[in-house]
Amino acid sequence: MNKVAVYPGTFDPITYGHLDILEMGCKIFDEIIICIAERAEKNTLFTLEERVSTVSYIVKDFDNVSVEPLTGLLVKRMEMGGIKFILRGLRAVSDFDYELQMALTNSELDSEIVTVFLPGKHEHLFLSSSIVREVAIHGGDVSKFVPEYVKHKIELKLRGKTCL
Ligand code: COA
Repeated sequence: MNKVAVYPGTFDPITYGHLDILEMGCKIFDEIIICIAERAEKNTLFTLEERVSTVSYIVKDFDNVSVEPLTGLLVKRMEMGGIKFILRGLRAVSDFDYELQMALTNSELDSEIVTVFLPGKHEHLFLSSSIVREVAIHGGDVSKFVPEYVKHKIELKLRGKTCL
């Protein structure tokens, strides 16, 4: 039977840290669905459609990885597809409380759901999307943190352009 996982997140924007987790996840799962959460409360730089389009381009060469928007509960989406696994990255101890809370909530909502945590690569442990946005907003070079395509999208967005 195919082992399918969802990899949920805001991806505002996707970074090399997220890609580390995805690459490792591909070694474990037969199929990964990246679920990009709307997260209106997060006041994101990119719209949901822009994030879906950017991530879709970035992962286009991965076999068995697809991308979709997520506007409701993750558990509902998983139940619809009969999916049991959630892939999440753990960067540092500081992630642990929040990640544990989410994993336990999701398994409380559906007891069959299992969250699989993978460690980030040490060179990206400090990375977060808000750090990338912050550096870019102040004119810094984000080439070490995100693929060139994402860097270009950030530059466009900061110039007030739509990034679909
Ligand atoms: N490398 C780099 N950065 C990483 C990372 C990695 N491997 N893993 C996480 N991050 C960063 C993100 O860039 C983001 O940074 P920011 O806060 O500075 O912007 C931060 O960690 C948060 O991670 P993210 O993966 O975007 O998760 P999130 O906390 O925004 O998303 C959801 C949480 C989307 C998974 C969760 O809200 C969800 O499932 N929502 C759907 C609704 C739902 O079911 N809610 C109930 C959940 S219990």
